[in-house]
Amino acid sequence: MPWYSGVHRGMGFKAIVATNVYEETHRIAGAFVGADLDTNAVLFSKNTTESINKLANRFAFKPDDVLITTIMEHHSNDLPWRKYCRVVHVGIDQDGGIDLVALRKEIMNRRGSVRLVAVSGASNVTGLCSPINEIAEWAHAAGAKIFVDAAQLVPHRAVDILPDDDPGHIDFIAYSAHKIYAPFGIGVLVGPLEFFNAGSPDQVGGGTVSYVGTDEVEWGSPPQKEEAGSPNVVGAVALAEAISLLRSVGMEVIADHERELLEYTLGRMTTLPRVRIYGAKSDLKGKVGVIPFNVDGMDHSLVATILSAEGGIGVRNGNFCAQPYMRKLLNVSPEEEKLKRASRCDNPTLPGMVRASFGCYNNREDVDIFIDMLARIVKNEQKGTYAIDPETGVYSARGFEIDAGRHFRYFNAFHVPGKGEEIA
Ligand SMILES: Cc1ncc(COP(=O)(O)O)c(C=O)c1O
Repeated sequence: MPWYSGVHRGMGFKAIVATNVYEETHRIAGAFVGADLDTNAVLFSKNTTESINKLANRFAFKPDDVLITTIMEHHSNDLPWRKYCRVVHVGIDQDGGIDLVALRKEIMNRRGSVRLVAVSGASNVTGLCSPINEIAEWAHAAGAKIFVDAAQLVPHRAVDILPDDDPGHIDFIAYSAHKIYAPFGIGVLVGPLEFFNAGSPDQVGGGTVSYVGTDEVEWGSPPQKEEAGSPNVVGAVALAEAISLLRSVGMEVIADHERELLEYTLGRMTTLPRVRIYGAKSDLKGKVGVIPFNVDGMDHSLVATILSAEGGIGVRNGNFCAQPYMRKLLNVSPEEEKLKRASRCDNPTLPGMVRASFGCYNNREDVDIFIDMLARIVKNEQKGTYAIDPETGVYSARGFEIDAGRHFRYFNAFHVPGKGEEIA
């Protein structure tokens, strides 16, 4: 922080230090996924979603171009493409993973019209991983490029996009800093330098140019060309720190640790009555530390609320920004879906699940606390009283109030009272 300054804009001492460091963080972020830094651009955005939007904006699709993706995707790896081309969704297999036979067939049958194959490296719902380098081979054989949404893969596995001339090379890849323990606000997009050298950037303004006349513009070189405005220098440094910490621990060590925790947790969870687990429960090599489940007869919001209020356990619940996938996993019929949508107003109320997931810092003791709490829930032995808000479908525990002022010291000092609220 003492050397924090704006970058690429001055010859002050701090500006030079910050510029050098900021540029180096791009190299660290690219090397983390095995990119050849002589031929690939590493761009910073604010998150994976923005990176995917940038690629969609920059890809110069024609309306009849086909993009093949899967129903497993996070909305962020689906909706941006729909703006520009025909998106074909491949289904899933029995375990909830991508139906690879169907995917390969779809890619091969559309040779010539398919321009991009966009798949996630690991699902944020089931944790199931896809054989991304193999899918890249199929895409290339059909004359297409591949994009991998690695938001959920990079925290859990070593990722290698392979050399540019390898048939299994990943052409484009994106991930977010906050998934690997750095703060929110930085996303990464890696892709061929020549791709980003061509054409105009999707966002224009300060930093993107080498020359501006009143009637003409010459764009700068990537990454600056693609990072309009003042960048998030502190976020970039935090990302590089997080990467170097993960590397010093070792991604293999992290993967083994998480696999061991997964086995232990699933082993204990499967003994509990009423707990329904989705996705693979054995052969866990192709699964990162994510366990989606429901308790029969209980709303996912209620289970998550009890885990939080009585167990101090943070899980996610809902549809995890992957609604088509959730509906498939939950076997929700279109009629059922319509009824649900009409009866309540907000997303948490749509069919959903609870998701327990591991960070690399979790251990068996954490799992034991979680399982003990879950064991109480399935026996209806929770202590509190819970009520649903009929407007939102979200549960809350009676008497459980969070005083944000205890955790954010500016909250009370500068709190702007709402309508009718008394000033303390
Ligand atoms: C698989 C996957 N893709 C994309 C995203 C979007 O990431 P971000 O919210 O950082 O843009 C997420 C976030 O949860 C995700 O899990």
